[in-house]
Amino acid sequence: MSVTFILNGLPATIAPEATLATVLRDDLGRTGTKIGCEIGRCGACMVLLDGQAVNSCLLMGWQLQGRAVTTIEALETLPVGSLLARAMAEENAFQCGYCAPGVMMTLAGLFSARPDVDDAGLREALEGNICRCTGYHSILRGAARARD
Ligand code: FES
Repeated sequence: MSVTFILNGLPATIAPEATLATVLRDDLGRTGTKIGCEIGRCGACMVLLDGQAVNSCLLMGWQLQGRAVTTIEALETLPVGSLLARAMAEENAFQCGYCAPGVMMTLAGLFSARPDVDDAGLREALEGNICRCTGYHSILRGAARARD
């Protein structure tokens, strides 16, 4: 038995006992979603579930019936997607880039819910996204540029 959900606007299936992060990368060809800790701490695997940012390593297939998942591959289809991508590039927000898809999906979810979020809200929203390179300053500058 498999579960049907919507992935970037198209139907997809997943086994109920599988984690979304693994299936995205191994079976569905969406390798933009990264895997780091696999315990919901690093944020590398962030996707949007019905528009809200969630760690896909913690999402089981059985939780996805009929729900809409958006991955980094569909960022530019989101209202804030192009603006966000441009702002992060202009601020050289990332170095190695491993955290970038997760950060971008967190911010895409945040900006669609709270377009006028303040700086403290930006920092709070990104608490679940770990970056080993930047010290977060460039990421926060990019996020603020996208918001402003
Ligand atoms: Fe999902 Fe780290 S891999 S939060």
